[in-house]
Amino acid sequence: MSKKSADRRQPQTLPRHVAVVMDGNGRWAQRRFLPRTSGHKFGVDALKRLVRHCAEIGVPYLTVFAFSSENWSRPAEEVQTLMDLFVKALEREAPELARQGVQLHVVGDLTAFSAEMRGLIAQAQALTRDNTRLVLNVALNYGGRWDVVQAAQAVAGSGQEITTETLAQHLALAHCPDPDLLIRTGGEHRISNFLLWQLAYTELYFTDLLWPDFNAEAFDAALADFAQRQRRFGGVPDGKTRAAA
Ligand code: FPP
Repeated sequence: MSKKSADRRQPQTLPRHVAVVMDGNGRWAQRRFLPRTSGHKFGVDALKRLVRHCAEIGVPYLTVFAFSSENWSRPAEEVQTLMDLFVKALEREAPELARQGVQLHVVGDLTAFSAEMRGLIAQAQALTRDNTRLVLNVALNYGGRWDVVQAAQAVAGSGQEITTETLAQHLALAHCPDPDLLIRTGGEHRISNFLLWQLAYTELYFTDLLWPDFNAEAFDAALADFAQRQRRFGGVPDGKTRAAA
């Protein structure tokens, strides 16, 4: 993204938190007569570009759906390729993320992963813990229903009353504001069990672009669309109250 287009954007219309469903890797590869798995490799490059771009333009929170709790049902070879990509990315990219000022969180049910992978996740998170430029949440073995259930269990286990506030404090993204904008690539118009609780008032943006083709320009188009939206959070325009209306 050019510095010029960043300068044109009003800071107050920049979302604080953007969530992304990175869909379309398989189709991108198939259209090129490549194995589906190579689409995921190019997908990692698209994610690296987006992280850099968000850090540059000052989006403070970015959450990406990298592996859903339902993705285990894919062919074993594809699941293995994705796991290998995650391990490689954690090993190779953690120092680069640290250099860029990114604080990494891997969110989801991590009990399903190998001890090696959990160790790498812990190391990468520790390495980037003190960074403040961009919080990057990578959702791995994540499902929105799982998130609500695990939070409810944690609150119940702590003996607290289950309220909106106590539950939110135990969700996987308790360290972030709710997303302002959700982008889904790949042409499908659904949430697919992503951040079910956190998306309550999020603006939704869908694009037909396949994830490996998603770039800074496409992200800026989503931001420009977001800047036109009128957010009411269940209220009325211009923040009028019933008494004042
Ligand atoms: C959906 O495309 C994409 C995924 C299930 C995987 C997304 C993962 C990445 C982009 C890699 C992220 C890497 C790291 C290191 C976090 P699809 O396969 O469902 O595409 P299709 O709809 O065309 O079949």
